[in-house]
Amino acid sequence: MTAQNGSEKLWGGRFSDDLADLGLQFSESTAADRPMIDEDIWGSQAHCIMLGACGIINAGDLRAILGGLAQIRQQFADGQFDLDPQLEDVHMNVESRLREIIDPQVAGRLHTARSRNDQVVTDARMHLRTRLLELRQALADLQQALLDLGAEHLETVMPGYTHTQHAQPISVAFWLSSYTSALQRDQERLAQTYERVNRCPLGASALAGTSFPIDRILTAGLLGFDGVMEHALDAVGSRDFVAEPLADLAIVASNLSRLAEELVLFSTHEFGMIEIDDAYATGSSIMPQKKNPGMAELTRAKTGLAYGRLVQALTMIKALPSGYNRDLQEDKPPLWESLDSVQTCVRMMTAMVSTLKLRPERMAELVQGNYAAATELANFLVRERNLPFRDCHRIVGHIVGTLLAEGQPLTDYRRVSELLAEARQEVSDQQLAEVLDAQAILHRQVSQGSTGVEATAAMIEKLREATEDNRGEIATAHQALTQARQQTNQIIEHIIEGGELAELKL
Ligand code: ARG
Repeated sequence: MTAQNGSEKLWGGRFSDDLADLGLQFSESTAADRPMIDEDIWGSQAHCIMLGACGIINAGDLRAILGGLAQIRQQFADGQFDLDPQLEDVHMNVESRLREIIDPQVAGRLHTARSRNDQVVTDARMHLRTRLLELRQALADLQQALLDLGAEHLETVMPGYTHTQHAQPISVAFWLSSYTSALQRDQERLAQTYERVNRCPLGASALAGTSFPIDRILTAGLLGFDGVMEHALDAVGSRDFVAEPLADLAIVASNLSRLAEELVLFSTHEFGMIEIDDAYATGSSIMPQKKNPGMAELTRAKTGLAYGRLVQALTMIKALPSGYNRDLQEDKPPLWESLDSVQTCVRMMTAMVSTLKLRPERMAELVQGNYAAATELANFLVRERNLPFRDCHRIVGHIVGTLLAEGQPLTDYRRVSELLAEARQEVSDQQLAEVLDAQAILHRQVSQGSTGVEATAAMIEKLREATEDNRGEIATAHQALTQARQQTNQIIEHIIEGGELAELKL
């Protein structure tokens, strides 16, 4: 049966007129659907295998549909299948192409016990899980680049800051690995998100399930899902699976923006502690001397996109009534855009970190020049003279105040010794030199998680293991997806070559 009058749309039966061009342009979603073409075809393949296995379509129809879908998949791989905006979305495009390739009467059975509402979330979850793994891979590369550079600088001192003011000496290894540590939580968040994303909504149908005896577990398995997203109404109407990765991405972006900001700041003439490689810096059209940290600045700025897309998605899903609403079509552009942007930023940061030049002399100069060792002097008095910390803080604070007034640094050990003597604490210049030397300070930091050489080396070791574990998890997840794809392919081949489903163990 074809449309006898009115609309030619696949859904055109109850319409007497076609959709206006403006209405079509306004509502078609082919651009946002394009990344999910492969997933949409795979979803249809799994769905019809399941329909066949459950006796909902017969063996001949199954063979014909699978043959047609295999051709569409091949056409897509060969660049011969692209989405036509006239056909609204990816689902209608695939079904229409199937009707061109095989008997439309048979093709028309594919949509039994299924709706675009459960199809679209299935496709999106499938595409999303691949993107999440890609992002985790890129993050692991960045984590590793930070550790690789850091591991060479366990004893390179630089100023540690609070309030952007010199606070205490830290090592470059400690500084860089702090980002790996933060990114590890991003990894964990993305791993948990993946678990929730990788549930199969297919079979929820439009909203209420179906009166056909479908096997949702079979479909889910063929598509590489870890299980079904059981509640049909929830499965088609909820988009927390979009908001959650967007929130993860926003947090990743916030971490990148902090690193980017420090690359900008520390490469200025004033700080002069690092130099960004020429390959990732830009010049000025007028000022010949300029070298601008353009890539770091752009990474910092693109945080806005990641935050914006999260707010966009959250706003869009707020207060939507149950079931599918067309509003939900607007979920994919922000998701893909944020994934693209954040992943590019992660790659950019990896390239910048792996080529970053450090200026240890400048770091040492800064760390010695601005009283960053004062806390250690107070600690020394507590240890050696058994004084309450609060008293030592006052003594050292007074010394720093005097030195500042005299324009002297804390490395003027002779003067510091005199001032200590005034506070009835005799400490030789030589002892002071040992106590206040920035590298010696690094060696004395013994607490777990500190900038101490051993403590930081231990953290780097653990973070390396964690980074490797991430790679292991990513590989395992990839493998599960590849296996599911292969299993589906084998079933398809078997059927197309004339075999029966009953001969297979499903
Ligand atoms: N293009 C739609 C989307 O992305 C697919 C689902 C359409 N469902 C519907 N009832 N019109 O959400």
